[in-house]
Amino acid sequence: MNQPYIPYLDLKPLNDRFKEQDLNVFEQIHASGRFIGGDWVGDFENKFGVYCGASNCIGTGNGLDALTIILKSEIALGNLPKNARILVPAHTYIATFLSIIHAGLQPIPVDVEELILTASVLEKTTISYDAIVVVDIYGKLVEDEVYAFAKANNINIYCDTAQSHGATNNSGIKSGNIARASAFSFYPTKNLGAIGDAGAITTNDLELANMCRKIANYGRDSRFVNDVLGVNSRLDPLQAGFLINRLPFLDSDNNRRNEIAKYYYDSLKNEKVRLLDNDFLSNNAMHVFPVCVQNRRVFIDYLDHIGIGTSIHYEVPPHHQKALEQFNKLSFPITEEFHRTEVSLPCHPLLTDDQLERIVSAVNAY
Ligand SMILES: Cc1ncc(COP(=O)(O)O)c(C=O)c1O
Repeated sequence: MNQPYIPYLDLKPLNDRFKEQDLNVFEQIHASGRFIGGDWVGDFENKFGVYCGASNCIGTGNGLDALTIILKSEIALGNLPKNARILVPAHTYIATFLSIIHAGLQPIPVDVEELILTASVLEKTTISYDAIVVVDIYGKLVEDEVYAFAKANNINIYCDTAQSHGATNNSGIKSGNIARASAFSFYPTKNLGAIGDAGAITTNDLELANMCRKIANYGRDSRFVNDVLGVNSRLDPLQAGFLINRLPFLDSDNNRRNEIAKYYYDSLKNEKVRLLDNDFLSNNAMHVFPVCVQNRRVFIDYLDHIGIGTSIHYEVPPHHQKALEQFNKLSFPITEEFHRTEVSLPCHPLLTDDQLERIVSAVNAY
């Protein structure tokens, strides 16, 4: 008998866990008559700030805005020159590049080492730059040495934490409390996902936090006074309420994701399916579980035929996108190889042991 298809990710059962609580949030907000800002937003900001260990949290409309607003705020405060050169890993989602460009700054992409920006990449980099935006790609925290390098060289470092909610570094410090400021996405597929668009900024710098809050709300100081050029990117109270319902489950969900990843590392044995080195397993929220396969389309179709869904993160690197034509001639071989061969295996908290065994035996039999 055919076994049921294992989707890469099914958001419905993940969110069904919170249906009753979500309906309650909806009813309360509907009854309150207050639909922008208010207690739900403040409450989520407090809870998520405390969760990350950061003294300030500012809700935003999405993760792209969160990162853009951080950079715009640094310019407004005089901490970044207009047109500043921002070092960024080539291996990321396009949003990281876009945030830098939308803030009026210049992305300076560099290739990664295996997966991510490392201190040894920074040590070898000879081009000049004013600040760094790092990315906790797939949920893997950027190593402590990168932050130490930036500190030693007096360079500010901002983190795109869109994929790393809840990951901790070797000193037990959480994502969102490591860089000068961090930008989270709560896009529904994320480890902490809303049921619509949502994002947040965390920082321990009060002056930066105040400027981010202002720029996210039309550059407003008070109702009728706008003293900087702002945007409209506020966290929706409904999404804030939904996120409050989900936050208490983030750690246990992340634990299950890490258990799954460990199981994959222990059990996947197929020369044609390359795992990253073991270090991938540490300091990781395990948002995406990547393997690298030549001719990946054949592998993806094979798994699909057996009844296993996969995904790709991502097919085309930012520097090869038409929208970023100015970078099209650059070459970053490690990033490009990754984007050519990466396949993401299912790795979400509701995967059962039986499903995992099926995935492992199918991959091993490929
Ligand atoms: C690495 C990375 N940065 C930024 C973003 C942007 O987040 P959002 O889609 O909420 O704007 C995402 C998510 O899509 C992402 O994966």
